[in-house]
Amino acid sequence: MPVVPMQQILKHAFENRYGVGAFNIVDGITMDAVLTAAAETRSPVIVQVSVKTVKVMGAKLIRLMFHEMAGRVSVPATLHLDHCPDRAVIDECLAAGWNSVLFDGSKLSYEENMVQTRSVVEAAHAYGAAVEGELEAVKGVEDGVGDEYGGPIVALDKAVAFIRQTGIDSFAPAIGTAHGLYKGTPKINFKRVEEILAEEPIPLVVHGGTGLSEETFRRLIKSGAPKVNISTQLKITYADSFRNYLAEKPTEYDPLKLIGAVKKALVAEVSSFMRFFESEGKAA
Ligand code: 13P
Repeated sequence: MPVVPMQQILKHAFENRYGVGAFNIVDGITMDAVLTAAAETRSPVIVQVSVKTVKVMGAKLIRLMFHEMAGRVSVPATLHLDHCPDRAVIDECLAAGWNSVLFDGSKLSYEENMVQTRSVVEAAHAYGAAVEGELEAVKGVEDGVGDEYGGPIVALDKAVAFIRQTGIDSFAPAIGTAHGLYKGTPKINFKRVEEILAEEPIPLVVHGGTGLSEETFRRLIKSGAPKVNISTQLKITYADSFRNYLAEKPTEYDPLKLIGAVKKALVAEVSSFMRFFESEGKAA
């Protein structure tokens, strides 16, 4: 079972209250490591890509690589475009056969975000792809998108109307998490998660996964937030393992050995998140 719709992964995880990591990849090494970790832990997985990476590699190449690599592992895997305010990039990814997109309209007015998100949902659903919606900007910068402040919180009834009227498949509320490294202990708004889900049982998305505590992950996942985004931690592991390898072997010039060392470190990192989120063993 290689590539599956995002909706299938989210539905099973939401109903059974476990988390599925959405890991931001930046190249073939990271994509390979994420899928290898999923295969080793028998875990469903979301391969997530920022707009910045799409601009470097191209939507078609990423989709081709994903299908080739996901075809080698027998766990459910799906390909998702992270924070994208740019409709042209969304359309490019959908036309290339991606499974899911996050239309980030958090910088738009409520009304404009509603109109544009609804239009993205219509386009995506025609391809069988899913849409993650966002109303309030998540704090922090993710590969060039966002700022350090985040957006204002929208009233609950308006947030629920946005979910219902746009027809999105998952929703990313601002709950106090932030992209990048936390400077202190984040104050998580668990109440907001519970309030939204009491009104509308839609899979919620946790942004800013790097640095959250085990207790926070568990509580959010058990409440109904099955998609958990991890980016910064993979970038750190990637750079550190690269640096350490070169420092330990200053006269080694075989790139495949270097790539192997980086991949090994990434597989260990991603696998530990999968165990933590309890997606281990959930691949059908
Ligand atoms: P981190 O970079 O904090 O792991 O957040 C990832 C994320 O939310 C991607 O959208």
